[in-house]
Amino acid sequence: MDLFEYQARDLFAKHGVPVLAGEVIDTPEGAREITERLGGKSVVKAQVKVGGRGKAGGVKLAATPDEAVARATDILGMDIKGHTVHKVMIAETAPEIVEEYYVSYLLDRTNRTFLAMASVAGGMDIEEVAATTPEKLAKIPVDSNTGVSKEKAQEIVAAAQFPAEVADQVADVLVTLWDVFVKEDALLVEVNPLAKVASGDVLALDGKVSLDANAEFRHPEFEEFEDKAAANPLEAAAKAKGLNYVKLDGEVGIIGNGAGLVMSTLDVVAYAGEAHQGVKPANFLDIGGGASAEVMANGLEIILGDPDVRSVFVNVFGGITACDAVANGIVQALELLASKGEEVTKPLVVRLDGNNAELGRKILNDANHPLVQQVDTMDGAADKAAELAAAAK
Ligand SMILES: Nc1ncnc2c1ncn2[C@@H]1O[C@H](COP(=O)(O)OP(=O)(O)OP(=O)(O)O)[C@@H](O)[C@H]1O
Ligand SMILES: [Mg+2]
Repeated sequence: MDLFEYQARDLFAKHGVPVLAGEVIDTPEGAREITERLGGKSVVKAQVKVGGRGKAGGVKLAATPDEAVARATDILGMDIKGHTVHKVMIAETAPEIVEEYYVSYLLDRTNRTFLAMASVAGGMDIEEVAATTPEKLAKIPVDSNTGVSKEKAQEIVAAAQFPAEVADQVADVLVTLWDVFVKEDALLVEVNPLAKVASGDVLALDGKVSLDANAEFRHPEFEEFEDKAAANPLEAAAKAKGLNYVKLDGEVGIIGNGAGLVMSTLDVVAYAGEAHQGVKPANFLDIGGGASAEVMANGLEIILGDPDVRSVFVNVFGGITACDAVANGIVQALELLASKGEEVTKPLVVRLDGNNAELGRKILNDANHPLVQQVDTMDGAADKAAELAAAAK
């Protein structure tokens, strides 16, 4: 879960990383009052979850409150790499930046450890620095058991060759930033630039934080970070019902039970689609290993609510939840949707196998719904679903 810069700034402040004042607004008028409060000048910064804001014209200095309103007017509504700017942060202006550094912590999955990265060549060209002069970006593994003590921080500072006059301050920042990383359950915390200003102080002028959604259970406050405006409404509805739904960009809706079966269903449908105008999975929903009839009904409602779906493939291997329960779930879901006035108009291909498959197939046959057809094999069913999706294109 990625955060906006202003949210990262707040977390930094909470743990003692030195930041400047800043307030977020969604209409330009507010910029005047905030800028007056900040001493008459400010920096207007687009709040979008994408890098390169400065280069895109989304970070502007304002020398007066009027200018801040003008810059906020320019930036609000701007498009930055496909992200519309809905909010701007009006930030305190750093007093004369002398140098810009880069520091971050992240989860290094490949090496199964955490990683500190640091460079004295920070700022807006850090990607370029990392690509062309990788020796300027120090990378130091961090042991999760010992974390970043002042000593470890000094090791990072030395590896990145920070100038002596800021070494101690940068080490302090690294220690507090590690606190943000661990206590907030982040997967990434990044400060770029960490600026040295004329007074000699070191300040975090821009922050990126990505939180680990798996830690939500111990962070009720994460809820406020959820970007409800950007979330896919169907994903949100699925989440509210405890279902795992993922949107993709094809045409065949997929429901299965168990992550392994769902993953292989995606492959089989993508393969079958090659013979049918290249149709692909539109989404997938895992109703889980022990899914009830009600869960099946909820799942179908979500999958059928996706306007990209042209056909649906329900692939179930009966286990704890036997196929008859799943078949009843399908029948009930179709009735439920019809009674709500959301009559199903898309074809469903159902493959039932495993526990009580015979009974499940009989239930569906008896229900005799005009849009439901059964195919006994997974490959055959995928082919039928792809064919129907292509025909409806
Ligand atoms: N509060 C501030 N005061 C003075 N200068 C600032 C301030 N915030 C940012 N800047 C300057 O603007 C540059 C770009 O700002 P920032 O790092 O926030 O955006 P960005 O790096 O382009 O965005 P992103 O990190 O999303 O790619 C900084 O490198 C810094 O020189
Ligand atoms: Mg930046």
